[in-house]
Amino acid sequence: MKATEENNLSNLSSSQNDLQTEIIEKGKELFRLSDSFEGSFFSSYKFFSKSLLFLENRPLLKLQAFRFADLFPSLISLSAISRYIKIYFVETPTEIPKWIVFFLTIFLSNPITSPLLALGAKIGIKLTAKFFILGRTYGSDRKKIINRYKNGISATIDILGEAVLSEKEAEKYIKEYLQLLEEVAQDKELYSIRSKDFPNEPTGNVSVKCSSLYSQLDPLAHESSVSHLKEKLRPILRSAVSKKIFINLDMEQYDTKEIILDTALQIYSEQEFENYPHFGIVIQAYLRSSQKDLVKVIEYSKKRKYPLTVRLVKGAYWEYEMTQSAQKGWDPPVFLKKSDTDKNYEECSKLLLSSYPYIRPAFGSHNIRSLSSAFVLASKYSVPNQFFEVQMLYGMGDSYKKAIRSLGISVREYSPIGEVIPGMAYLVRRLLENSTNEGFLKNINANQKDREQLLYLENSRSI
Ligand code: 2OP
Repeated sequence: MKATEENNLSNLSSSQNDLQTEIIEKGKELFRLSDSFEGSFFSSYKFFSKSLLFLENRPLLKLQAFRFADLFPSLISLSAISRYIKIYFVETPTEIPKWIVFFLTIFLSNPITSPLLALGAKIGIKLTAKFFILGRTYGSDRKKIINRYKNGISATIDILGEAVLSEKEAEKYIKEYLQLLEEVAQDKELYSIRSKDFPNEPTGNVSVKCSSLYSQLDPLAHESSVSHLKEKLRPILRSAVSKKIFINLDMEQYDTKEIILDTALQIYSEQEFENYPHFGIVIQAYLRSSQKDLVKVIEYSKKRKYPLTVRLVKGAYWEYEMTQSAQKGWDPPVFLKKSDTDKNYEECSKLLLSSYPYIRPAFGSHNIRSLSSAFVLASKYSVPNQFFEVQMLYGMGDSYKKAIRSLGISVREYSPIGEVIPGMAYLVRRLLENSTNEGFLKNINANQKDREQLLYLENSRSI
């Protein structure tokens, strides 16, 4: 090898090392800051999260618990709940200790204790939902959003509900989104806080689940799905534009990805929307196709008058995609190893930040390594803090949110509103990511030394 080539290579690897060191230092800073915001008092979330970790090494119990949660919305009476507790946790072998199964059997066969147990399960699910769901409607729970804004945390509001089965149901969701836009636009208190402390914010920010707007989304009927979805979206986008509200189209399961992506790129180019600055889309880094899609979105955004926002996430449907592809005998569209998703997230962050100012990044992650890497890359590419933001889920990682705010970076919470029943799928996704060895809780519950280990890419965990 020639001397100059050797020099170049060693320069490259030393700058790689510098970058890694910077990322790790940034991560340690974030951990330190987040500790300083952590309440010393009893935290119900910590208690809850520790109990969820009970499921971590009990795969059979975990499977039954999620099956039960999935089925729960259809169980309308206490006796139905009891019946299924019996089928799922007594008659099906799980890792539940024998003595608990014994007591469950006795309680479930007694006419007084059986409904009490069912009621307990019902209350348990409702309380769990409270951790992750902001409230029932914007009107009833807007104070929570206002208070979060007062603490420097902005919101993107989403209406719980997805994969509707009929057009009647879809119409109901369209109306709900339109009403939400009205309510947000008319909220004078929100307006005054926003215009004072968040001068660059649009009037509000709403995330839309396309699968709740049209019941026939079908990848085999791509053109017709896109065209129907655009029709459903137009009134929502029109209302948002007239009120200066940001609209994000969420990504969902892989089989609707192309439909949602094409819909977004086509509708955002329509004459009435092409010059609107507040539109966004999501890229899921667990998808092997994500870099290709991201490049397409960046090229598209370069042609716009105002940049699109890309929420870069890891992706919340991993278990679903794995089961679907196994059932169909297809190659999974997702990376099999969590660390490959994490690496890809950093590559996508690089693509986003190196395209400054043509695309606005929103880093949707609770993983301190992934976020530290984004922050270090942002300064490497001279992207000002005001140009990007971090998005985290309502109910998760409050001390991290405050730590990131204290660095002068905006934090937005994904804040779902709605009922528990249509929100069950959302809740199950949150429970899945909070109860795995790779989950966000590993970050939260790890001790200081283990936590720093999580800052190395090969060890990095959480969504
Ligand atoms: C989900 O619905 C947050 O969009 C994400 O799981």
